[in-house]
Amino acid sequence: MKYRSVCLAKVYLIVCLAVYGKNLAAQNVLIPIQSENSCLLLSTDNQNRVRMTYFGKRLRNNKEHRMVTKMYDYTDSNIGITNSAYTPSGTWNINEPAIQVTHADGNTSLELKYVSHTTKKVDENINLTTVLLKDPVYDFQVSLNYKVFIQQNVFEQWVEIVHQEPANVILHKYSSANLYLNDGKFYLTTFHNEWAKEMQPSESKLSRGITVIESKLGTRTMLLKNSAFVLSANGEANENFGTVVLGQLAWSGNFKMEYEIDSYDNLRLIAGINPYSSQYTLQPGETFKTPSFIYTISHNGTGQASRNLHDWARNFQVLDGNGDRLTLLNNWEATYFDFNEKKIVELFDDAKALGVDLFLLDDGWFANKYPRNNDRAGLGDWQENVKKLPHGVGYLVKEASKKDIKFGIWIEPEMVNPKSELYENHPDWVIRQPERPEVYFRNQLVLDLSNPEVQDFVFNIVDKLFVENPELAFIKWDCNAVIFNARSDYLGKNKIPQTHLYIEYVKGLYKALERIRAKYPKIPMMLCSGGGGRVDYEMLKYFTEFWPSDNTDPLERIFMQWNYSYFFPSVATDCHVTNWSDESVKYKVDVASMGKLGFDIVAHELDDTEMQFCKQAIQNYDSFKEVVWRGDLYRLVNPFENDMASLMFVTPDKNRAIVFNYVVNTRVKNIATEPITLSGLDEDKQYTVKEINLWPGSISKNNGNQTFSGDLLMNVGINIKLNKNNTSIVLEIKAVE
Ligand code: DGJ
Repeated sequence: MKYRSVCLAKVYLIVCLAVYGKNLAAQNVLIPIQSENSCLLLSTDNQNRVRMTYFGKRLRNNKEHRMVTKMYDYTDSNIGITNSAYTPSGTWNINEPAIQVTHADGNTSLELKYVSHTTKKVDENINLTTVLLKDPVYDFQVSLNYKVFIQQNVFEQWVEIVHQEPANVILHKYSSANLYLNDGKFYLTTFHNEWAKEMQPSESKLSRGITVIESKLGTRTMLLKNSAFVLSANGEANENFGTVVLGQLAWSGNFKMEYEIDSYDNLRLIAGINPYSSQYTLQPGETFKTPSFIYTISHNGTGQASRNLHDWARNFQVLDGNGDRLTLLNNWEATYFDFNEKKIVELFDDAKALGVDLFLLDDGWFANKYPRNNDRAGLGDWQENVKKLPHGVGYLVKEASKKDIKFGIWIEPEMVNPKSELYENHPDWVIRQPERPEVYFRNQLVLDLSNPEVQDFVFNIVDKLFVENPELAFIKWDCNAVIFNARSDYLGKNKIPQTHLYIEYVKGLYKALERIRAKYPKIPMMLCSGGGGRVDYEMLKYFTEFWPSDNTDPLERIFMQWNYSYFFPSVATDCHVTNWSDESVKYKVDVASMGKLGFDIVAHELDDTEMQFCKQAIQNYDSFKEVVWRGDLYRLVNPFENDMASLMFVTPDKNRAIVFNYVVNTRVKNIATEPITLSGLDEDKQYTVKEINLWPGSISKNNGNQTFSGDLLMNVGINIKLNKNNTSIVLEIKAVE
């Protein structure tokens, strides 16, 4: 009897397990998130937790997705589940979490179980998948959002957090994304910055443990590091081969990127706002939306990944990414703060002589009680300085217009010098600790953009300029200080925790920019930050272009622009010819022509030949800028590995290309030992190869009289005799009709 009942119990258990197991198996949900070439596969496990099972090439047969989930099981009894799609903390997981909270009752545990998911077709090219997760114990939910730009193979991911607990919940960590990449030996390239040394790459093999790239600077948060990254799955990143993921957090505040190699040698990538000093108190019913994490995956190396990002950025992110851009002459390096109305009007003649579209008046035009004659005073007092500009900005706009030149102006609206009327009148608008000594960065402090009055102030600076000068055609928006002594008078008075400041600052900035764009949708604005301290995809929603660096030495710019080009399209990359170095004017112009061309020189000091060259080069630029701005970029010869650099832009129809070639090491006598192998052309077409931007009087062997097949140009290449005396060569390649 006893034996029989044990047997029955056993059978019952087996049946139960079978039924239960079957049910669970039936419940396993597959969530394929697919672009043209790639698939990010989420699936639920037997505990209803969502895992990131696969991120790689798109499979031919969707039916095999279920097989994929069977191939991997990353459950580790020591630490939990390593491939969770959004790792909670305080329950089964002891990995680095993506989210960490304290519930209304003080409990610190969080479980997130799958509830449902939807995939919406936004349009022919965009799908949006939303996965809803809930805590079974607390009324707390998270939705994971994945927007896929199908043709571009770009993924945009963000998270929304909301609860209905009886009181506030504290969010300690609230990442935008938690990716899991397997089957690799991962190499990570990150980009480190300093003033005049932006985008310095550093590649290394990731080893066990967590590599953290973060910023705590509050604003201009990329001054020291950029959140942009290149991840290569097997060996060092290659331009044409291998699986790579490139991306960036679209956030202009503190960020934290965590790259963890786990006990399976797989990569956990957690990206989001830096939790540093940023606990967020979330009220019942309030939704916390994280910034977007934007990335692409390429199975053909970094070249394809960059083309994906450029295509996406131009079409969906950068303001007016497919629109026109203005060539310009800036006066910063020509005059610094030392100018007056007469001098500026004279410089309009330079702009006219060169043939650029616009004159850009830089820093130093404003403030009266504390005139802006250096960087120690006046910031915040946005009235024309009556000594320098007795007839105001309006006069300059009109004078420029008489010469058929557009006029643009510099502002730095988020900042204040302590020596200013703004500071005297509104010390409560300044981020500072009133009980402690002030700490300055370039003699200035940051305004508290969490305060709606400050947002109005910032909006009004721009609005007033345009209302008074409707013909104003361009804004350069600078940002030179980081946040020290983080404390907001406004948050304090409104009983909002100070730990919201870093977030509310950025949101306040976006609000001000939203208003500006609502009223002035397409006015070109340059995003500058004491050089390139602030280049992120979110800011580029509001800006048509960015300033990569104050360092305009063309030799160094080749390397910098090469690195920026991994992520940002040339149409948004401002490149100016200046007197920063002694390189030839031709070399400078040729380098600057790879982006959006501008000048910051005293043009009337150029000799006749230099002037003749510049004028011709600007005309050439006008004729080929469409190819550079909207063509596909091929980085042909890497200056980090060679004595030269070569980059090529090709129109999508493969009929026209511009190839930029530069010597980067003049100590080597013979650079032109081998041909440069071109890319992106049609093997079956015939092409002419013609050198443009020739120095007046010089004759090139590449005169366009000969034709070459695409086959030859792409498989053998062409030797263009780049050498010590010909340090930069620009080629125009045209298909023969
Ligand atoms: C820093 C910018 O990077 C420069 O181009 C220039 O605008 C100065 N600020 C003006 O102060």
